[in-house]
Amino acid sequence: ETPIRVGLLGAGTVGSQTARLLVEQKDELAARIGRPIELVGVACLDPNEVNYPWIDKSLLTTDTMKVATNADIVIELIGGTGAARTFVMAAIESGASVVTANKALLAKYGPEIYAAAEAKGVDIYFEAAVGGAIPFLLPLRESLAGDKVTSMLGIVNGTTNYILDEMTTKGLQFDDVLKEAQAKGYAEADPTGDIEGHDAANKAAIMATLGFHTNVTIDDVSVEGITKITADDIAAATAEHKVIKLLAVVENGEAGVSARVYPALLPETHPLASVHGSFNAIFVKAEAADDLMFYGRGAGGAPTASAVVGDVVAEARHIARGCTGPTIPMYNKLPKAPIEAS
Ligand code: HSE
Repeated sequence: ETPIRVGLLGAGTVGSQTARLLVEQKDELAARIGRPIELVGVACLDPNEVNYPWIDKSLLTTDTMKVATNADIVIELIGGTGAARTFVMAAIESGASVVTANKALLAKYGPEIYAAAEAKGVDIYFEAAVGGAIPFLLPLRESLAGDKVTSMLGIVNGTTNYILDEMTTKGLQFDDVLKEAQAKGYAEADPTGDIEGHDAANKAAIMATLGFHTNVTIDDVSVEGITKITADDIAAATAEHKVIKLLAVVENGEAGVSARVYPALLPETHPLASVHGSFNAIFVKAEAADDLMFYGRGAGGAPTASAVVGDVVAEARHIARGCTGPTIPMYNKLPKAPIEAS
């Protein structure tokens, strides 16, 4: 049977683990999909720098555009909003479906990308973009599509949760913990986006877009990071039986939709207060469902790759059956809700 061709853009922390899951589980995945899938190209910056036993050297290339336009499913794990946008748009134009973990790209250019995918009749999946391994966006898109989500509180950046948690529980210094978070592969290439709250803000935009069925972009999100949090602030919180957590707070209330990121004081008894280390969690309120909580690893190579490969399987199943799945933009026909001034 003709394999479903998968092109991978990026062979970094997440890309290399994605390739591993695809290659090592080839037979199991073929059985789950009903058709084999084949990794047909891996675009990277320097093939000499990529040494993994599961990546066949002959697949490595610096010709990213070639990989982006010669597959049935293109996985974008380059990151950023420049080259990644070009390659994602080219992949869609070539008729490929796209799987990406790129929260910054979707928070900035989501409406344009979703519209292009819709026009072309291809899918775009991005479970890994918010909450890493946590199955969260798909439940939000599908399982909760019959309810009204009113608010979500999320710990959606592993780096900052790790930093705040280590400062709180071990009394460590901000800079030392940040270095550890980088070494563990949680932080972005440039960790400024993590600690200034921009990574969480990108995720807030995506959460609000899917949860509230309207297009919310990064420009609609107010942001405050954790760089001003001192050991004294943490000691003061602890004395009051509270913890400081960087939260993404998105609400759909009477006044409209709002999306914010800020360091919040939570009582120690709040379910989100016990989310430690680089773990993420999202606390959702919906009218009929009432309270829900999603918890898991939000960063790191293998956990993020788990969500990426889950998306590949979902899309491959659609392709194997000659259909496309529920693409995001179908849900966003509502006029943009008023964004509450922040
Ligand atoms: N830098 C991000 C984090 C990675 O720390 O959560 C996952 O998006």
